[in-house]
Amino acid sequence: MDLNTIESDDIGTVAGQPAVRTTAAKKVFIKTYGCQMNVYDSQRMTDALVADGYTATDAIGEADLVLLNTCHIREKAAEKVYSELGRIRDMKVERASTGREMLIGVAGCVAQAEGAEIIRRSPAVDLVIGPQTYHRLPDVLARVRGGEKIVETEYAIEDKFEHLPQPKRAEVIKRGVTAFLTVQEGCDKFCTFCVVPYTRGSEVSRPVAQIVAEAERLAEAGVREVTLLGQNVNAWHGEGENGQEWGLGRLLFRLSEIPGLARLRYTTSHPRDMDDELIAAHRDLPSLMPYLHLPVQSGSDRILKAMNRRHTARDYLALLDRIRAARPDIALSGDFIVGFPGETETDFEATMELVRQVNYASAFSFKYSPRPGTPGADMPDHVPEAVKDERLQRLQALLLKQQQDFGLSLVGSTIDTLIEKPGRQAGQKVGRSPWLQPVIVDEMAGEIGDIIKVRITKTGHNSLFAELA
Ligand code: 5AD
Ligand code: SF4
Repeated sequence: MDLNTIESDDIGTVAGQPAVRTTAAKKVFIKTYGCQMNVYDSQRMTDALVADGYTATDAIGEADLVLLNTCHIREKAAEKVYSELGRIRDMKVERASTGREMLIGVAGCVAQAEGAEIIRRSPAVDLVIGPQTYHRLPDVLARVRGGEKIVETEYAIEDKFEHLPQPKRAEVIKRGVTAFLTVQEGCDKFCTFCVVPYTRGSEVSRPVAQIVAEAERLAEAGVREVTLLGQNVNAWHGEGENGQEWGLGRLLFRLSEIPGLARLRYTTSHPRDMDDELIAAHRDLPSLMPYLHLPVQSGSDRILKAMNRRHTARDYLALLDRIRAARPDIALSGDFIVGFPGETETDFEATMELVRQVNYASAFSFKYSPRPGTPGADMPDHVPEAVKDERLQRLQALLLKQQQDFGLSLVGSTIDTLIEKPGRQAGQKVGRSPWLQPVIVDEMAGEIGDIIKVRITKTGHNSLFAELA
């Protein structure tokens, strides 16, 4: 994109401030790790930088600024960042030899958790910026260009979303017909294995008006499916347009009125926050997709207690009964941790039994990874790595079988598919099922953004194949 060809009202503006325009467009490359929240944040950082005169690039070698948006949830995820920083440092040195500068920034949860330690370990890093301060990115960069190294991880008092520029219409269109929208950040649950309450802070809900305005903007640019995001999304609450207190269920009803938005989703939820109105939304809102990611982590009450989940396996199963009664075709997804401190073979078998009872359409499962500063890390009876490996294998085999069976159960049926993009092979398009599976259909099957009826013919590795119904 050539900045000189852009009309001024096409440049995003920070609330109350004029758009900044520079002549030589610098390029930013952002690499995103971890959850969908980081994907969304990377987009908003891109929007802030575009408003500041940058253009986004997919080629790291061309970048004047490389930002890593990092994840701290498990040790492996955090360590990846340091090995990547080593590689980027070499590029920075090479680029410097041609007389050009490459700034390196670390954002996201590793930035928040490790702060200045990152610059100590990787001196090539120029700036470290936590998730609560992304709106300050342009100012921070101006100081970095002045020769300072900056660590900006203080929780800001101001609302970053108020200050972050909205994406330009062209940018939204480029990003496709599905979009994320963060409605809530942080977590007050303090599960004993989890770093999120420390890296993302306590729960904050975005106001209704801000969310509705952003969803309308997305819909106007052609977005058909919006996924509301939050670390604890169903804890979202706010003052509604009628002055009453709204929960997520009521918000979904409101968003379903926006013309063009055909599909709504939300993730990730905590079982304790599935209230009646949210369950009613699953019953009454055709645009709320019949797919729910509801992590349980373990099927053993003893382990659930040690994890501070504040629900039992029975509570979880009873909740699923109510949700399934409201929306019988709902498919379930979950997260599991194996090898939490103290987990015995009997505890693990309870997890396997819960999985057999629920029958998941998809799931994510992990070996417990002790995170410094969390209560779990200091608990006794850590499970040996080899035992964790072996349990994870057994659990994943069962979950994979359930996922494949779910796909097979759809063969022969007619389902709605949102056409998203051209397929990898000529003659194909890729769509998305109500249950988040990629659906590979005939090229002629519809335009991007259309929701069409297709008949499932067979299942692929992670996808479904279909013909026009
Ligand atoms: N070790 C392993 N898995 C974890 N998760 C969160 N913290 C840890 C940890 N310390 C998993 C949980 C959570 C998902 C996002 O990551 O299953 O739901
Ligand atoms: Fe972490 Fe538990 Fe909060 Fe989820 S609910 S973000 S697992 S502390």
